[in-house]
Amino acid sequence: MVVPRSESDIEVLKRNAALEAADRVHEGMVIGLGTGSTVAHFLEILGERIRARALRDVVGIPTSERTAANARRVGVPLATLEDEPVLDLTVDGADEVDPHLNMIKGMGGALLREKIVACASNYLLIIADERKLVSRLGTRSPLPVEVIPFGWPLHLTFLDTLGAQPVLRTWNHGEAFHTDNGHYILDCRFPAGIADPAKVERSLRDRVGIVESGLFLGLADEVIIAGGEGVRTLVAAKGTA
Ligand code: A5P
Repeated sequence: MVVPRSESDIEVLKRNAALEAADRVHEGMVIGLGTGSTVAHFLEILGERIRARALRDVVGIPTSERTAANARRVGVPLATLEDEPVLDLTVDGADEVDPHLNMIKGMGGALLREKIVACASNYLLIIADERKLVSRLGTRSPLPVEVIPFGWPLHLTFLDTLGAQPVLRTWNHGEAFHTDNGHYILDCRFPAGIADPAKVERSLRDRVGIVESGLFLGLADEVIIAGGEGVRTLVAAKGTA
């Protein structure tokens, strides 16, 4: 059972997961850099090792403007997918992870670039604290769905037919949140969770104006979970998710 923790305890867990991931980064690698507060710890550790010359010739592909700024601040050299179309490893966070290592991502707003980078990577390593483990996707987090701003309200009824309760993501001052790609996000609550994630994903893919969803199905190779009892790794049985 997951015991409620203080914010500082949770930051320790995130850092523990990030430390384990940083040990997987070796000289000469092209690394996808995810987005979020757990990845922020990973960037700090990576930067420390690069600055200390304990890690050489590593280059990062950022999944958001926020991550790019953080990486520059800590001294992680950056490249683009045009420069480096094949990544050795991507390290990213998650909002939910189910027993098949299927995930919901995108509460940080970077799901589209995260999915593009994940698909270009030879290995997708997820880092998370134990609060992110769920038995069914959609029970802890809403599902972020990235849409073209033009005609966005037309998706509300459609999403309702999928069992979702969509809400346009806004900034604190009430204006619509824009992703780095200039799109909107509809955060979709599923009151009973998502019974058939693959079916929901197919329906979303078929809909004109929906760019991408935060369902990451069958993409993770491994998840590093940090909890009160230590760090453990879950490895995907690819093809059975
Ligand atoms: C970013 O868009 C998300 O996919 C993040 O990876 C996810 O929200 C995890 O973030 P935290 O590490 O901050 O929980």
